[in-house]
Amino acid sequence: MSQHDKRFYVTTPIYYVNSKPHIGTSYTTIIADIACRHARFMGREALLVTGSDEHSQNIADLAAARGLSPQQFCDEIVPSFRDTWAAVNIQSYEFHRTSDPRHHHLVRTFFNRIYQKGDIYKGSYSGWYHTSDNRFLDEDEVPENPESHPRLKHLTEEAYYFRLSRYQDWLLALHETHPGLITPDSRRNEMLNRIRGGLKDICISRTSTDWGVKLPWDEQHVFYVWMDALLTYVTGSGFDIDTYEKTFEPGNWASRSSEAPGDLYSVTRADLKSQPAQNRWPCDLHIMAKDIPWFHCIIFPAVLESYGLALPKQFLVHGYWDFEGEKMSKSLGNVVSPQDAMALVGVDGLRYFLAREVPLGLDGDFSHERLVKRFNYDLANDLGNLVHRTVSMLDQLFEGVVPDELAVSDLDDALEERRKRSIHEAQAHFENLQYSEALQAIWELIGEANKYIDEKKPWELKKKPERRDEVSTVFNRLMQVLRTVLLLAYPVIPGAANRFWGILGLSGRLEDLQADALNERIPAGHKAGSSEPVFMRVDWEKKLAESGAGAGSAPAGASLDSPKAKQGEGGSGPAATPSRTETATPDAFITIDDFAKVQLRVGEIRAADKVEGADKLLKLTVFDGERERTILAGIAMYYAPESLVGKQIVFVANLAPRKMRGLMSEGMVLAAGGDSGKLALVSPEQPLDPGVVVR
Ligand code: MSP
Repeated sequence: MSQHDKRFYVTTPIYYVNSKPHIGTSYTTIIADIACRHARFMGREALLVTGSDEHSQNIADLAAARGLSPQQFCDEIVPSFRDTWAAVNIQSYEFHRTSDPRHHHLVRTFFNRIYQKGDIYKGSYSGWYHTSDNRFLDEDEVPENPESHPRLKHLTEEAYYFRLSRYQDWLLALHETHPGLITPDSRRNEMLNRIRGGLKDICISRTSTDWGVKLPWDEQHVFYVWMDALLTYVTGSGFDIDTYEKTFEPGNWASRSSEAPGDLYSVTRADLKSQPAQNRWPCDLHIMAKDIPWFHCIIFPAVLESYGLALPKQFLVHGYWDFEGEKMSKSLGNVVSPQDAMALVGVDGLRYFLAREVPLGLDGDFSHERLVKRFNYDLANDLGNLVHRTVSMLDQLFEGVVPDELAVSDLDDALEERRKRSIHEAQAHFENLQYSEALQAIWELIGEANKYIDEKKPWELKKKPERRDEVSTVFNRLMQVLRTVLLLAYPVIPGAANRFWGILGLSGRLEDLQADALNERIPAGHKAGSSEPVFMRVDWEKKLAESGAGAGSAPAGASLDSPKAKQGEGGSGPAATPSRTETATPDAFITIDDFAKVQLRVGEIRAADKVEGADKLLKLTVFDGERERTILAGIAMYYAPESLVGKQIVFVANLAPRKMRGLMSEGMVLAAGGDSGKLALVSPEQPLDPGVVVR
């Protein structure tokens, strides 16, 4: 890999700081972080640039309404962006503000040259200006009574124009000859159609405000917010415009900006040689949603070409997240905060959901219920359970030490094949920015591994000493699968992957590993750690009941990372705070709130063993939908241990754990009878998913 290819520079849009980050802006930033983490895993030096777009009219208006200067207003909001990016675990990034003097200098120098070149001219502009979108409306966009629209202002201004029309043929050739420049194709076609429809010159300055970057040749004007904002990508790359300016010789624009779009990078790269070592321009990947490719894929390349600077290598245009079928908007009050979502499913739950739920490019529909369901199924059940089953059985059967592969069967080989296929598929999808597909490939492996355990039934094999070799292979193979899964899923769920990594007893941090780790295996003799819950199943119905919320609202959940959620509550999240009913109740009755405190669940008995020195007790290993727990039950007089394996039972999931005969019991199994000499365990009338709540 050459030094140049080793570098990977990715950007998010720089967000308007008129409100705090929400699920949409978090999505773009998380996607960018996944791209960077994957790139680092592939041995590249990744730089992520994000930031704040501060010079909009809307911000100036909001600031004025609060009696603040626009700068003070932005200073107040910017920390909430940094806090959110820390909360959603954006690994390392640079945050650039358009109010930064270094940025102003770059913008002024850049456009000054374009002005001198003759690609900017003075005219006047009259039209309806949308103060939130920060643009003049096209004629066909103006509503019937624009005067009554709160966000529209009629403005006539002397203004400067950029000769976009001059670049029409060039832009067409650029996009026609570079099919991968815009991803996905649907957005590329949309841009091609707009170019073919004809490009008019665009207004790039305003005099109605002085909040912005002043034009160097006419300080009565400030640059239109988009003109200055796009150049943040250049400022953020570490590009040194003063040095670059020295490489210009009068009249050499033609040689600098190629006429042939095929040569776009090679012509300018020579000029970039004068740049300091930290310069990352040209950018590898600009990520944005479908609202703004016009600015990124048409206007931005045209001004870069006019100035004579290399073009970005790729634009990724993703879809929009709606909320339960409706566009998210402040006025509808349905803007989802990442903090609310994380209170339900934690940071990795949110990252996983956003990356997995929709293929990049398509729109997504957000709902808290869907978020919780995916978390429960994919993370708590499939992944969490696979790790827990493997590590706790390894502990019971091999004292946590990874055994050798001894007798190898077809099933073992099939799992190994699936592991290799998942590596290949997931890596290819990560490279192609197909994160949902990458996760699918990883979860297919997880699914196969869970099935493999069910088919191999190691808890039965272990009782047959002649088959011990088979069990050894099972646990060796499972540990290799888990290691692979964590390496692959790391860019999406970095926090949880590292915790699981520790549970497997593997050393170091995943941040420090690279793709060659995928070729390594856990050696026999390695000692795993002990299992602990990482993803705790969320009881959605209970959350809803607690919050008293309707289906659409977010129940106020406690963070899974909060200490409260970790208090051995049977993995069910925080304790309920039931509302008190006012009805007087006779002493003999309990209220529905009292009953709600008892959490009954369906469990599956995975193993049953006698307890030494206790005639009445059996030690049951019960799978609760998420992990296996030990429950001691006084039923030894009524049931032969082997007759219980595979049976579904009902148990109290939130009983405080207690020690009996040196063993910790985590729950209580429900049974009826006993006194009459007969005892029956309470079982669901038909098989249910382990973990479901009994009401
Ligand atoms: N300031 C401009 C961008 C200038 S870039 C040089 C801007 N800011 S914004 O705050 O409105 O952010 C728009 C971007 O936020 C979208 O392109 C997308 O990346 C993200 N999203 C905002 N709402 C979104 C959804 N509802 N769904 C998905 N992404 C969303 O435009």
